Amino acid sequence: MHEFLTGIFFWIAISVCLVGMLVRFVLYFRGLNWQLDRVAYKAHPKAGLKGAWRSIYKWLIPYGTYGWRTQPAMAAAFFCFHIGAVCLPLFLAGHTMFLESKVGFSLFTMSQGLADFLTWLAVGSMVFLILRRIVLPEVRIMTTVYDYFILFIALAPFVSGMMARYQVGSYEFWLNMHIFFGELLLISIPFTKMSHVFLFFASRAQLGMDFGIKRGGMKGTKMAW
Ligand code: HEM
Ligand code: HEM
Repeated sequence: MHEFLTGIFFWIAISVCLVGMLVRFVLYFRGLNWQLDRVAYKAHPKAGLKGAWRSIYKWLIPYGTYGWRTQPAMAAAFFCFHIGAVCLPLFLAGHTMFLESKVGFSLFTMSQGLADFLTWLAVGSMVFLILRRIVLPEVRIMTTVYDYFILFIALAPFVSGMMARYQVGSYEFWLNMHIFFGELLLISIPFTKMSHVFLFFASRAQLGMDFGIKRGGMKGTKMAW
């Protein structure tokens, strides 16, 4: 099982994720239509790119947007979860060693102490995000079984990774479960809401262009709308 998960299934998971997201990126931008969207994307590239960049980086800064500031507790939980969700897969020692053995290169490796801290922080924040969906009526009415499924797919690699890390019960069992859940997450990225890992940048860029060009971005110029 371990050989299968770290061999052929690993290559399938990583290829499905990367090729799938490339296709979704192309489809996203090909699906834009300046007449329907009423945004002159190509006519004003400078204002458009400025707006796109602004929208991406402001949303990546804690409390950088009005959206984040109106929901301070949600924003805190969001950033505490996402810092681990982005940094752990890339910089955890277990992962960089695995990547090194597979593809011959890896990125910077974080200390075990920091990895443990980010893991606990991510799991704690995710529990808060799940409770928020159950407790707040305005979020509950918008939540479907599918949303809980996505939360499960996102949380499973963290919990199983922790079980392996702290050697709760059988180390081999939890490591295999962890690798399986990690690969399930990678495969689910192009086909589910998890596509936001990449498409966040596409949709923020598009909305940023809209604001940068049309909604006040080019105020004071002679743009005809
Ligand atoms: C491609 C599949 C993956 C493989 C082969 C893999 C491999 C590993 C290994 C070898 C460990 C170390 C276990 C130990 O301490 O002995 C680990 C831990 C961990 N992994 Fe993964 N992993 C994968 C995917 C993921 C993903 C996608 C995530 C998160 C989104 C993730 C999050 C974690 C976490 C949170 C830990 C525990 C860190 C700690 O408590 O310090 N892994 N993984
Ligand atoms: C560069 C990478 C990423 C970016 C920019 C990003 C951005 C976002 C944004 C903007 C939201 C919506 C927050 C809202 O409801 O207002 C979100 C939600 C979410 N993200 Fe990510 N994300 C990234 C990576 C990840 C990864 C790697 C995972 C999983 C391991 C993940 C799991 C989730 C989950 C589960 C939610 C839903 C939370 C909830 O509904 O309560 N994200 N993300």
